[in-house]
Amino acid sequence: MMRMNQQQIDELVEAAIEVRNRAHAPYSGYLVGAAVLTTDGRVFTGCNVENASYGLSVCAERHAVAAAVAAGCRDLAGVAVVTQSDPPAAPCGACRQVLAEFGDFPVILAGLGGVRESTTVRALLPLAFDPATLAAASEEDPGSNP
Ligand code: THU
Repeated sequence: MMRMNQQQIDELVEAAIEVRNRAHAPYSGYLVGAAVLTTDGRVFTGCNVENASYGLSVCAERHAVAAAVAAGCRDLAGVAVVTQSDPPAAPCGACRQVLAEFGDFPVILAGLGGVRESTTVRALLPLAFDPATLAAASEEDPGSNP
């Protein structure tokens, strides 16, 4: 797994703090900012966008990943998530699954007061159902269903 250096971590957390300020979270009042680093050094950001139809709300992490993918960058090297929680919150289950689609890389959890914790996608989602799961299954049974 690629490691991020301190400068990359700082840049990613700064980007997540900035985009967090643009979150649309009038219902929960819980603002989240996320920034992903791609292996070619680019940074993509996302914030949570809530909806009056609550279930349509989308998390910050998934927006950041979608921005990277839409720009043609699928090789992720790390992600930072900034919340107001203390200790800083970890991604929800759905976002863990979406992150795992793109491999195992560092996940930096940051609070507003400067508290930071570092974990990984794999640590957050052990035994993930990921692309390797499907690849292994098709080797065993390469499509018996017409
Ligand atoms: N939220 C995120 O943006 N990311 C997460 O990983 C957890 C939750 C958002 C969704 C909702 O807008 C607000 O935080 C409260 O749940």
